Amino acid sequence: MNTPLDQYGVIGHPVAHSWSPFIHSLFARETGQALSYRLHDVPAERFVEYVLDFAARGGRGLNVTVPHKVAAAGLATELSPRAERARAANTLTFVETRILADNTDGAGLVRDLTLNLGVAIAGRRILIGGAGGAARGVLGPLLEHAPAEIVVAARTAERARGLAQGFADLGAVRGCGLEELGPDPFDLVINATSAGLAGEVPAIPAAAIGPHTTCYDMGYSKSDTAFVLWARGRGCERAVQGWGMLVEQAAESFLIWRGIRPATAPVRALLPG
Ligand code: ATR
Repeated sequence: MNTPLDQYGVIGHPVAHSWSPFIHSLFARETGQALSYRLHDVPAERFVEYVLDFAARGGRGLNVTVPHKVAAAGLATELSPRAERARAANTLTFVETRILADNTDGAGLVRDLTLNLGVAIAGRRILIGGAGGAARGVLGPLLEHAPAEIVVAARTAERARGLAQGFADLGAVRGCGLEELGPDPFDLVINATSAGLAGEVPAIPAAAIGPHTTCYDMGYSKSDTAFVLWARGRGCERAVQGWGMLVEQAAESFLIWRGIRPATAPVRALLPG
């Protein structure tokens, strides 16, 4: 009899558009690992029951995406320091009755910026647009790389201030409303809003972007995202979308599950963007 494959997947709602099964199947082939990785479209009200059942049936791990990342952290029996700090998880690992939660989003962003794109973080001024779960997941890993300053700016200023306060012990970070941003351009502007889902762009003042600013959209699309087009229209010479982050966070999850880090460049080369 054949040994059943180790079961992994991504759980979200909706999740049909996810590229994770494609990415993980390429990682598995590249590293010679035998595993199965599937989509699990599960609404919020069934999330906990579904995950516990997946684990009880011997499932080994799940990536977690919108809207379950906070619930995933709440369900875990053990949180990694970065998941605890983000209060959100994108990677669950099931070991007997233990549920381990981690968050690889920030590490994925940092790897894409520093290793793939050659964008320095240390000593740089960084603007993060948006103060939701996406921003929360990447603030800690960015601050670890000692930027001169991170400004979190959101439509709702209080949300940005509250988020920044929660990370102030890690480095120079402050929050404000988008309209409160000063006249100086940033070295790096990261779009962590969900505005792109509606084809919109956050109201970041044009002064935030200079000719040497790198603009990074945590969202991605087969064609240019609204934010990338907006940034280019303001003279930004380097505006990229988050395909690289997607592959890097997946590789971090694969490493957690399988103990081996797959090479990301061959996979990235097969994705759009
Ligand atoms: P996620 O978990 O994807 O980060 P979220 O928690 O809903 O999603 O947070 C989304 C962020 O995008 C929020 O900061 C939101 O602004 P508010 O804090 O004012 O709610 C921001 N956002 C969404 N649409 C936006 C838009 N059109 N312009 C500016 N900011 C937007």
